[in-house]
Amino acid sequence: MKKNAGTEEAIKRWDRFADAYAANHTEQGDIHKEVFLNPAIFSLIDSVKNKKVLDAGCGEGYLSRMLAKSGASVTAVDYSPRMIEIAMDRTPHDLSIHYRQGNCEDLHFLEDNSFELIVSNMVIQDLADYEQAFQEMHRLLAAGGCFIFSILHPCFVTPESGWEKTHDGKKLHWNVDQYFYEGVYEQKLGDQENMLFFHRTLTSYINTINKTGFHIESVLEPKPSKEMLKKYPSFEEDLRCPDFIVFKLRNLTNF
Ligand SMILES: C[S@@+](CC[C@H](N)C(=O)[O-])C[C@H]1O[C@@H](n2cnc3c(N)ncnc32)[C@H](O)[C@@H]1O
Repeated sequence: MKKNAGTEEAIKRWDRFADAYAANHTEQGDIHKEVFLNPAIFSLIDSVKNKKVLDAGCGEGYLSRMLAKSGASVTAVDYSPRMIEIAMDRTPHDLSIHYRQGNCEDLHFLEDNSFELIVSNMVIQDLADYEQAFQEMHRLLAAGGCFIFSILHPCFVTPESGWEKTHDGKKLHWNVDQYFYEGVYEQKLGDQENMLFFHRTLTSYINTINKTGFHIESVLEPKPSKEMLKKYPSFEEDLRCPDFIVFKLRNLTNF
């Protein structure tokens, strides 16, 4: 593990991985987004028509496009220049999406209280200073607005976790180790790139959310629906423990 690597090193790797990552995404995102994250996130969102929405860490932009197609006016930020290029190429001109390259830990070019909704799908575990990122989201959100973010479930996806298998590959149970380690770790995504992820305990997440001034309105640990299991039966194993957790936070300051 490279214990001193931070956001800058992590984003270099995202930039190198951007084309391969995007190749896996349709207009519904990848298969995990279709099965778990989109249903969870959209179940937490009221109408976005005419709302100002920030997609923080937009990647190749599928979620920004879904939101803009539902009538939102979207600002989409990613720190990887290549991700932003791909997202722009994939976005029809008539969709109201304004792409910017920027680090979610410091979005000084965006104005205070300027969004009614912020979504951040699978990004917070990819950056080093999540406390600073939460403060930025709080600064950018209008009073009464919501910040919805998804991450790898910190209780089950840790620096050392994975299936315990028999010799012939049968999955016995999911192992979790190094839960209390907080910091960076490497993990392969796809064939080529070792990505950097940043692990924190659930306690640290919740205490940081509270300290930032957010109110936790909902928490979801998404499971595959019956319809999704019919379409993708191999996700049956995800009824055993969750890979993801989704938080809906509200900014109640001056509300
Ligand atoms: C797992 S991908 C998710 C992308 C997109 N939200 C989606 O759901 O498809 C993580 C994204 O976060 C971006 N990212 C990582 N660290 C970031 C940071 N500090 N600021 C902005 N974007 C960041 C990466 O470039 C990558 O596009």
